[in-house]
Amino acid sequence: AIERTLSIIKPDATRRNLTGKINAKFEEAGLRIVAQKRIKLSMGQAGKFYEVHKERPFYGELCEFMASEPVVVQVLEGEGAILKNREVMGATNPADAAEGTIRKEYALSVGENSVHGSDAPETAAQEISFFFSGLELVG
Ligand code: CMP
Repeated sequence: AIERTLSIIKPDATRRNLTGKINAKFEEAGLRIVAQKRIKLSMGQAGKFYEVHKERPFYGELCEFMASEPVVVQVLEGEGAILKNREVMGATNPADAAEGTIRKEYALSVGENSVHGSDAPETAAQEISFFFSGLELVG
């Protein structure tokens, strides 16, 4: 089925001017960028987005990192987009990521891992509506 997923190009990647190279990976995999904006998250916004991780030891560090510099939030669309995006991103920890994946090529560490992608249909819908209004999502 055609799906939509929420993607974030994280501060470590925007800082290194990698937005275009990362977007090329998505497009080469058949994912279409149907919405995109560059924003700077507040600590509160980062904390709310990652609320599911709030009991984890890395939560504070994660929120500080995500609020440290601008991010690019985007909606990717395509056949099986949620899983496909996870394949293109590679494993969370770049040390475990497969050749050719975004995290293998660009991530610096498990924390500064260049991209985020929704992990399931329910979280994709929730994460898309966290950042985008219906008006920003054209067919
Ligand atoms: P992401 O897909 O954005 O979802 C949660 C993030 O937490 C994850 O990518 C990692 O960047 C981050 N994360 C996971 N494990 C660790 C860790 N051990 N230390 C720091 N950050 C982590």
